[in-house]
Amino acid sequence: MRIAGKEYRTIWFENNAVKIIDQTKLPHQFIIKELKTVKDAINAIKIMEVRGAPLIGGTAAYGIVLAIKENNDPEFIKKISEDLIESRPTAINLKWAVDRMMKKLSGINSDQVLDVALNEAKEICDEDEKFCENIGINGLKIIEEIYNKKKDTVNILTHCNAGWLATINWGTATSPIYHAHKKGIPVHVWVDETRPRNQGANLTSYELNEEEIKNTIIADNTGGILMQRGEVDMCIVGTDRTLSNGDVCNKIGTYLKALAAHDNNVPFYVALPSSTIDWDIKNANDIPIEERNSQELSHVEGIDENNQLKKVLIYPKKSKAINLAFDVTPAKYVTGLITERGISEASSDGLKELFKK
Ligand code: MRU
Repeated sequence: MRIAGKEYRTIWFENNAVKIIDQTKLPHQFIIKELKTVKDAINAIKIMEVRGAPLIGGTAAYGIVLAIKENNDPEFIKKISEDLIESRPTAINLKWAVDRMMKKLSGINSDQVLDVALNEAKEICDEDEKFCENIGINGLKIIEEIYNKKKDTVNILTHCNAGWLATINWGTATSPIYHAHKKGIPVHVWVDETRPRNQGANLTSYELNEEEIKNTIIADNTGGILMQRGEVDMCIVGTDRTLSNGDVCNKIGTYLKALAAHDNNVPFYVALPSSTIDWDIKNANDIPIEERNSQELSHVEGIDENNQLKKVLIYPKKSKAINLAFDVTPAKYVTGLITERGISEASSDGLKELFKK
């Protein structure tokens, strides 16, 4: 998608290095960063220079490529694959991508390993782009239906950033919105700010602005009253891990939004590529929920009057804070799952039907 009119993907391989857009500096600075070593890749995932389930999967895949370039020793690559998987715990795409890379590399002659790894990492990213595009084509039908009934702007609420910046391109939750906009359907997006790291305000609103899609940032607690007032036609969120029974793990606060949507009869959709489905874990309590540094709550970053990035403390110095990064929305509150294969009920039967070979 576009930034200042120029088309980008979120990650690419150029001149023997991996290039990323440093998301910790957005929206105030647009910086392309080079990852030269696998340590750079692991660090970029940990400190969220790259974030979003599909993008951290893509970054991990390229991390394996960087590791092979450093030391083409199977024991080293195996250890690195474990480090990559541990770099963030909740989004399943990370493990999915590393496992796919390792499977592809097993039994490959050492003089071919680098080429095979590079092709597979590119394939993982190309596939994600295609899947997200299909999510958009499938989700567009829902927006179109609402528009045909309403004959007026479709108001869509989203949480966190499940936009193209969280994927390779198109986004998951935003892809139907981009497709609707391209088709000329008037859409307006309520963008949850998404405390504490403000991915909604800093990233979703930013990327929608660059594509000239109308959007309004709201505090995370505002969605409820907007739904009560009839000002939300549908919600679309992304997910970091969806269980085979349809339970959806996503950015903290998603669950409360789903409850409000349920209470107000607002359709609540989750958009995801199949790489985000965890077919193994059966119980939502077994999903590892990331707990991040409480400084992400107690401090905020922005630009000062001299356009310099600055971090300030906003909590009492002695106060304790807890920073759980994700929650789980039970399947019963999810209207449907928008995937690259179509839209399914959030249930074992729904997902099985869609993903039977
Ligand atoms: O902590 P993040 O920013 O990596 O989390 C990302 C999210 O939770 C997104 O909302 C998302 O939907 C998953 S990525 C498409």
